This record gives sequence, C-alpha cells and structure tokens, in this order.
Amino acid sequence: MYYDTILKQWCEEHRMKGPSMRDEPAFYRNLERALDARRQSSTFVALKPRWDDTVADFTSADFLSLTRTGQIREAFLQELEEHPNFELGASGSRCQYGNYAYINQVEEEIADFHGAETAFITSSTYAANLGVLSSVPLPGDAIVYDELVHASSHEGFRLSLAEKKVAFSHNDPEGLREVLTRLKEEQPAFEAGTKSVLICVESIYSMEGDLCRLQELVQVAEEEFPLGNAQFIMDEAHSVGILGDKGRGLVSMLGLEKSIAIRIQAVSKAVGAVGGLIMTRKTVRSMIINNARSLTYSCAPSFPVAASMRAGYRLLMDGQAQKAQEQIQDNVRQLLELLSLSPEIEDARDQGILLIPHLDDDWTQRPVQTHIIPLVCTRPRHELFLFFHLLSHGFNSYPFAFPVVPKGQSRVRLVMHAHNTSEQITRLVAVIGDWTREVLDIESGESGKQLPTAALQLQAMQDSL
Ligand SMILES: Cc1ncc(COP(=O)(O)O)c(C=O)c1O
Repeated sequence: MYYDTILKQWCEEHRMKGPSMRDEPAFYRNLERALDARRQSSTFVALKPRWDDTVADFTSADFLSLTRTGQIREAFLQELEEHPNFELGASGSRCQYGNYAYINQVEEEIADFHGAETAFITSSTYAANLGVLSSVPLPGDAIVYDELVHASSHEGFRLSLAEKKVAFSHNDPEGLREVLTRLKEEQPAFEAGTKSVLICVESIYSMEGDLCRLQELVQVAEEEFPLGNAQFIMDEAHSVGILGDKGRGLVSMLGLEKSIAIRIQAVSKAVGAVGGLIMTRKTVRSMIINNARSLTYSCAPSFPVAASMRAGYRLLMDGQAQKAQEQIQDNVRQLLELLSLSPEIEDARDQGILLIPHLDDDWTQRPVQTHIIPLVCTRPRHELFLFFHLLSHGFNSYPFAFPVVPKGQSRVRLVMHAHNTSEQITRLVAVIGDWTREVLDIESGESGKQLPTAALQLQAMQDSL
C-alpha cells in the first residue's frame, strides 16, 4: 500500500545519519550533519514514488486534468505531426542562433490571447521570476513585495539591483500604502518619479490559496505614485487555466491588463505543459533580453517546450478546458460546504485546533473560489500527523511547516482538481471529521490516548526500524 511505503520511507529518511558517518570523508559527514538538522525538525525532503489510482489526488498540479486525461499529450503529438522537421535543441541562446521562428509565433499567439503586447517563453516559472527580478529593477529602485510571495521571487530579490526590498503585510492594501508612503518620505526621487517601485504579488497565493486584492492594490499604487513609477509584477502561476474567461487568469478576469506591467504565467501547472511565460510591454522585454543573465546566457527553450505550450494554450483557446475549469469551482464549493456542515470540524474550528481560512463569513458570496485550500494545524506536528491520517485513508495532500509557511501556521494543503469526484470529496470530509473528533477527544481527556492514531503509527514504525 502506498501509505505503508511512504510511512516507512519517511521514518527511514528521518533517522539521524551524522553519528554513523564517523569513518566517512569529512565532506560527506558535514553534509549529513547539516541534513540532520532537517531530520530533527521533521522537514527532511525525500523524493517519493508516484502514487497510483488507489490514492485520491488532492495535491498534484494537474488542476484541469489535462495530463491525466491525455488531452495535453494528444494536442502535443498533433503539434509534432504538424512540424515533422522540428529540431530537438534550440542550438543557442535566445540572443543568438536560438531565436527560431516557431518560438516567436507561439509567443505572439499567447500574448494575443492574454491581451499583452509581448510574451517571452522561459524554461520554468521559477526562471521567469528570476529573470525579471534580476533584470528589470534599476540600481536605486525599490522592490515592495507581499510578505507571502513564492521562493522564486525571493531568489530574484537576491539577484536584483534594487536598493531596497521591503515586504508589506499579506494582501493588505493599507499595508502597501504604508510602505509606499515611507519610501517617498525617505527618498524624494520616488516622489519625483526618477526612481521606480516594483510591487510583487501573486494572483492566488500558493500556500494561502487566497485571491489577490488586486484592484485595491492597484488603486493604492496609482494614488501614491501618480507618475506611474510604481508598477506591478504579478505571478499568475496558480490562476492560469483556473480564473477568467477560458482561463486567462486574474488580471484578465479583472480587466487590468493595462495596469499590470509584468505578468508571470506558469504553463507547468494547470496547462499541463512545460515552462513559464513573461507577458509585458516591448520596453520591459528588451530590458530582460539585455540584462537577464539566467535567461540569455543559457540555451533558448527548445521546440518541444514551445510546442507543449502551444498545445496547452490551444486547449484553453478552443474552450476545451472550460468544463474542467467549471468543475473545479463546483468541487471546491462542495468541499467547503461539507467542511462547514461537519459538527466535528466545527468543534475543532471553534476550539482553534484546525483552522480553515477559506470558510470565512462570506465564503458563499465569493464570485470565484480558488483550488488551493489550506487546513491550518495549530498543534505541534499535527500537519504531519494529519497528512499521514489522510494518506492512510487513501487521500494524498501535502504538509507544510516553517520556513515554507510562517511559524505557528503549519498546514495540510488540499488542492482541488477537475478529476476529483463528488464521492472522493464527501469521503475526504468524513476522514477529516474523524481526525478532528480524535483530536477533540484527546484534548478533552475523553479518550485514554495522548496522541492521534496517525502519530502512534509513525512512532511504532520509527521504533521498528
Ligand atoms: C507562485 C509560484 N510561482 C512560481 C512557481 C514555480 O513554477 P515552476 O514549477 O513552473 O517553475 C511556483 C511553483 O510552485 C509557484 O507556486
């Protein structure tokens, strides 16, 4: 069973290795000691085997099920068939021989679909963020970012020439205003428009699953920087295929194409293909081509990458993914409704044992739901125990702890897909309900146990190895 395999693997991988490395070369011993720190905090990462159909998928990035159904493969094969003489490699950087006609054509089509002046294909979304942030801010500019932006943005900040890098409180327009006002007070160049501010946000935050309050943030930026020297970099990794007409994303859904300077799109998630995209104006694209060393001192994305993107985007453009997009909305609504109706889960929420931020007071009024639903576990290591509890009942999810999420906000993240069935969702909620009942009974002293069953199983496995 997949659960047994993962449980055993987790326990084996989390056994301290440093002490048994005494006779090994010092280099490896030092590395294992560093890894032991991860093991100690239960955050060691090991590659897991893929699960099969006996496990329900509440974690993969195949949100629209385009991979699982084979739709993207068929579209890709069709693309290959139409271009039988394709070249496997790009044979050079984008600035040199690697700028082939097909990649330009795909970029134009996709830019057109998103209502952008240009698009620039990258080998991953991570690379897109790195490329933009390392090349666009000028020396003396500032980067202002939502405190919960993705690791790839943080990596980009480190490479950036921006003088100041300041976080604002998560999804908080007034938090943004505070930071912008302070910047103007500290440096008159911002008020005068001779230095710029790049504001980094995400359409759907990858750990919170909440929607960016983009309209309000844009309004604040325009009010505080009326000369247009505060511009947005919007990471749409999680919203392409999920939000907007034909999955064009949040910016398009809100009609803000002209207000957002740079959109970073993922093709590796909902679209089921490979790579990332930078949608922007020609000026910014030129800046990237001139300065983004990670993108241009490297071979261009090859034909198969561009073809996979075209295949995926054709599915979006033709409306072939529309039903899946709607199905995700139905599935999330079903999940939230059942979670809100479960008495055990309500008790656990009331007692602060399990928090479900998506179930705020007006969740039923939200015009769109997002497919990322965190279950925040406030008790120590409960994200791990809940993950194992779900897996032992045939549901895959993902546990996250500090430093991926803030301290005290460890969580199990559920990701909804078009392929999740109503039965799976109903059973998932029942299994979460069993978990909360068990924890409630432990905390009230009603059960004789000190730890939930999943924790005891983990302990038993660790002892047996
Ligand atoms: C917000 C965000 N940006 C960027 C990335 C990186 O995407 P990719 O896997 O295409 O590099 C991710 C991946 O999880 C993400 O969540």
